[in-house]
Amino acid sequence: MTAPLRPGEPVVVPVALGARAYDIVIGRGALASLGARLAALKPGAKAAIVTDATVAALHLPAARAALAAAGIASSEVVVAPGEASKSFAGLEQVCEALIAARIERGDVVVALGGGVVGDLAGFAAAVVRRGVDYVQVPTTLLAQVDSSVGGKTAIDSRHGKNLVGAFYQPVLVVADTALLDTLPPREFRAGYAEVAKYGLLGDAAFFAWLEANVRDVFAGGAAREHAIAVSCRMKADIVARDERETGDRALLNLGHTFGHAFEAAAGFSGRLLHGEAVSLGMSLALEFSARHQLMPMAEAERAMRHLAAAGLPTRVSQVEGGPPALDVLMDLIGQDKKVKRGRLTFILARGIGRAFIAPDVDPGDVRSFLAGKLAERP
Ligand SMILES: NC(=O)c1ccc[n+]([C@@H]2O[C@H](COP(=O)([O-])OP(=O)(O)OC[C@H]3O[C@@H](n4cnc5c(N)ncnc54)[C@H](O)[C@@H]3O)[C@@H](O)[C@H]2O)c1
Ligand SMILES: [Zn+2]
Repeated sequence: MTAPLRPGEPVVVPVALGARAYDIVIGRGALASLGARLAALKPGAKAAIVTDATVAALHLPAARAALAAAGIASSEVVVAPGEASKSFAGLEQVCEALIAARIERGDVVVALGGGVVGDLAGFAAAVVRRGVDYVQVPTTLLAQVDSSVGGKTAIDSRHGKNLVGAFYQPVLVVADTALLDTLPPREFRAGYAEVAKYGLLGDAAFFAWLEANVRDVFAGGAAREHAIAVSCRMKADIVARDERETGDRALLNLGHTFGHAFEAAAGFSGRLLHGEAVSLGMSLALEFSARHQLMPMAEAERAMRHLAAAGLPTRVSQVEGGPPALDVLMDLIGQDKKVKRGRLTFILARGIGRAFIAPDVDPGDVRSFLAGKLAERP
């Protein structure tokens, strides 16, 4: 793995996308290098920082200072925290502010925040003046290991999440792991579900490393950086193979079909955060795989033990306010975009680190499996 050569030196993970290739820079304090890195990439560019009010209060001064240190003038757009900003109204606010700040084709948008800001600012950058470059400065664990990498940008429609968007790659990602020190513990845990996902889907050795080092990942320091770097490298590799999700990229959806149904049934609310839903969804996908003799039940149980040890939900009874009804879940699973000719596509596994795309799952099997889970005593 791309271990740092010296303590304090950031890890750089390249995303190999030809003319659209870029680096992910990961390290404690990496934000301080943002201006210098940008000045090298885009000499003479000015910047507009898009952020949310919570992140602005905590980290905007440092971001602004990092740009100023390299002589980069910056303006700011601050949106309300929360998913509601990924809306047409939020997009309008950001686009109008970017245009008012005279951000031109040669300038750059800096997305400073979690996945909400990253998706919104990235999409605004894709459409303002038919496209200006943007940099991701992710400030949540979820954003550092997932949403800031790979170029999916979007806002939500009244018909559902992420339905209006574009594939639009950033020119740089700077993941400063120290910014996670201010993240509420529940948000950190939720992001950790996506870290564990990388081990579960494709790297058993990484999963074993996480089992041994989970405490240090939560505590910060070198283990946290390593976990983020391995996660980013895995996502970068998958994205480089399949940028537009016509194949392998779907593996990143491990736990997401089940998880999304629970998340949607909870109304995308604080009852169940995305990462919590993914943890529950991965537990279900692995147990489903084991019930269908694809993998040993002991391995599914081992995965669930680790997620539970990290403080994440693995059982349907753990959904705050109780789990949704079976029909509601099946409806939501049926609406998932991965349905083809009455068969369901799930990401299943042949073991820890061995996920695969199963395009032909019988909805009846899913229904009886979920019925059993819903009937289990807490
Ligand atoms: N583009 C992709 O590939 C991709 C992948 C996964 C998720 N997403 C999207 O990401 C979004 C979720 O992202 P998220 O979980 O980062 O949520 P978020 O952006 O809403 O951040 C969660 C909360 O943490 C706060 N916060 C952010 N950084 C902080 C910090 N350093 N200290 C303290 N508070 C901080 C935010 O203000 C917010 O209230 C969803 O909209 C989802 O659709 C996109
Ligand atoms: Zn996810």
